[in-house]
Amino acid sequence: MSEGVKLIEVIDLKKHFKIHDGILKAVDGVNLHVQRGETVALVGESGCGKSTLARLVVRLIEPTSGSVLFKGKEIFSLKGEELGRFRRSVQIIFQDPFASLNPRLSILGTLSEPLRIHRLVEKKEIKDRVAELLRSVGLSPDDMHKYPHEFSGGQRQRICIARALSVNPELIVADEPLSSLDVSVQAQILNLLHELRTEQNLSFLFISHDLRVVHYFSDYVMVMYLGRIVEEAPAEVLFSKPLHPYTVMLLEAIPSITKPKTKKGPLIIDDIPSPLNIPSGCPFHPRCPERFEPCDRITPELKPKEDSRVACHLY
Ligand SMILES: Nc1ncnc2c1ncn2[C@@H]1O[C@H](COP(=O)(O)OP(=O)(O)O)[C@@H](O)[C@H]1O
Ligand code: SF4
Ligand SMILES: [Mg+2]
Repeated sequence: MSEGVKLIEVIDLKKHFKIHDGILKAVDGVNLHVQRGETVALVGESGCGKSTLARLVVRLIEPTSGSVLFKGKEIFSLKGEELGRFRRSVQIIFQDPFASLNPRLSILGTLSEPLRIHRLVEKKEIKDRVAELLRSVGLSPDDMHKYPHEFSGGQRQRICIARALSVNPELIVADEPLSSLDVSVQAQILNLLHELRTEQNLSFLFISHDLRVVHYFSDYVMVMYLGRIVEEAPAEVLFSKPLHPYTVMLLEAIPSITKPKTKKGPLIIDDIPSPLNIPSGCPFHPRCPERFEPCDRITPELKPKEDSRVACHLY
């Protein structure tokens, strides 16, 4: 990543859950940062720890160890006004726009709540601001008197985006914001996020299990597997020259992108291991067609390789 202002910096972050039959390592030593105006994508299959990482970054949960810095300050020790400023500056958009809207609140109620909590506008200006927010996400100001059930999934996600924007955030953590939407609607919401990002100089931590979505939306891509980053690179590098066999597997699952063929035949797609029982050595080795002698014994570290960083013994 080129050097600029680091809005968010994640340092050796871990979140382990104690559950009845052991310790589940949902996030296990992640480092990343997002600079001002930049979009960093976090990609990986279901269960690899993406949402846990998102919830840590916005301080919805506390880590087992490690740090999250916002403009250089540890977020888990923020209090009072500084915590308020952090809560405003970093917003999250969730996968399911219905579950994240209060069904009993009108859209006016939903969008004015953060304005009131953070005292961002005078009472008499609230309706004008809500109207402006609705317009900015492609909805009509008349929609403010309706309730969540009167909208489609895509419209509800627009409302969630408006709510996130209401407090003039600097960073948006978008946790699979398209996954619950119809394919035709996904492109519209992605375009909206694209426009807003340019207009408002927003930074994004954009989470997806779908590399296709990430291809058009991110500057930098991080591939996560069982709680760890296994490859990261500027988007154009990752898509033109994927290094880790897991990244190659994810790319091969996309029909429309031309991608290099693996040397030793198809990868094993089934059998996603559980974070409760992480394989020895390279965690990807049970599925990897390239595995060789040290792979089941020695865990590869994330190391620089040209413009990428990769955790694989092949490099
Ligand atoms: N509160 C929790 N308690 C126990 N296990 C959890 C909790 N939250 C998430 N997990 C587990 O952590 C792993 C990662 O989950 P998650 O972060 O939701 O992954 P993703 O968003 O990539 O699908 C999963 O195995 C999930 O079951
Ligand atoms: S370290 Fe070995 S098993 Fe792991 S991805 Fe690389 S080649 Fe495959
Ligand atoms: Mg998730």
